[in-house]
Amino acid sequence: MSLRLAACMAARAPSFLLPPEAYRDDAWFRTEQRRLFARSWALVGAAQDLTNTGDYVTATVGGVPIIVVRGDDGVLRAFHNVCRHRGMVMLEGSGNVDGVNCFYHEWRYGLDGALKVVPQRKEQFPDLDPCSLGLLPASVDVWEGMVFVHTHPDVAPLADALADLPRAIGSFQPGLLPVVAKADLVAHCNWKLFVENHIDVYHLWYLHGRSLADLDHNRFEHRQLGRNWASYEPLRDPDLATSRLVRGTRAIDHIDERDRLGVGAHMIFPNILMASNAEFFMSYACVPVSPCESRIEVRMRAEPGADADALLEAARTFIDEDILACERIQRAMESPWFEVGPLAREHEAPIAVFHENLLAATR
Ligand code: FES
Ligand SMILES: [Fe+2]
Repeated sequence: MSLRLAACMAARAPSFLLPPEAYRDDAWFRTEQRRLFARSWALVGAAQDLTNTGDYVTATVGGVPIIVVRGDDGVLRAFHNVCRHRGMVMLEGSGNVDGVNCFYHEWRYGLDGALKVVPQRKEQFPDLDPCSLGLLPASVDVWEGMVFVHTHPDVAPLADALADLPRAIGSFQPGLLPVVAKADLVAHCNWKLFVENHIDVYHLWYLHGRSLADLDHNRFEHRQLGRNWASYEPLRDPDLATSRLVRGTRAIDHIDERDRLGVGAHMIFPNILMASNAEFFMSYACVPVSPCESRIEVRMRAEPGADADALLEAARTFIDEDILACERIQRAMESPWFEVGPLAREHEAPIAVFHENLLAATR
């Protein structure tokens, strides 16, 4: 525990600051989309999928459709995925294109966002100025092979949002590891429940009594890093480091002994979660779909050739337990009798900090 957190906890017991409506109402959901997610960096892909000219990924960030595409000049750019004619969302999913084309009336844009072709332009749009109708720019940045976007073109750099997190992930350099396994999971709960569960130390002994039994929760270390959060806990017994390796994988070459003999769990505010152990570095963004549904975008990085199915199976031993718990709480929140009791003084304190940051961002 950090000194700052200790001082904060000595001053007051943490409390659960959000009302049940925050987890089930459309109005809260819309406010969060507009004031929080549309103003935060979002994790949308892996740099390894955007290496060639024309490679693209799409995402919807706070309700805002965005494209990230590699240009002819090798530069990665982000644009609003909305045609400047009548507002069509043009690209879906991911892939490779030689331009951004709108299938409605076939306006065509270059990979640099410039408007290149307008059918029947002379006759139908004699006064059109193509220079004023390029794709609207957004922001893109890459940290350790992870591609982040922001809906605004002029924002503080991603590094500001990461704060000290890059140092807190220890010896891991996720950018050196390919994404070897991906999965999109559905959780029938509000996104905040899943984030709160991730930064709740208290449940490790109980909900994960079997799945995380190899870890020494009594030596759990965690810290606030601005609005982000980072943690580490060691294995109960160093000899478990080799016996618990997932079949078909090997330990990550570049990490140090401390990271080989423990696990990390981190959070980039508001919804990007990470977990690491000797074999993998995993991100799982918990993306809001509706007030009571979330999509968990799992990306697992490991040494090349790792068994993707075995890695996902290992991660899902604890993720599925977390989803089950969050879905059960979501059900209870529909009850007019629902209320939250006291929070554990130390082990649930990060939840109160998360709520303070969320309320400040959405005010
Ligand atoms: S909406 Fe895109 S060309 Fe008309
Ligand atoms: Fe958990």
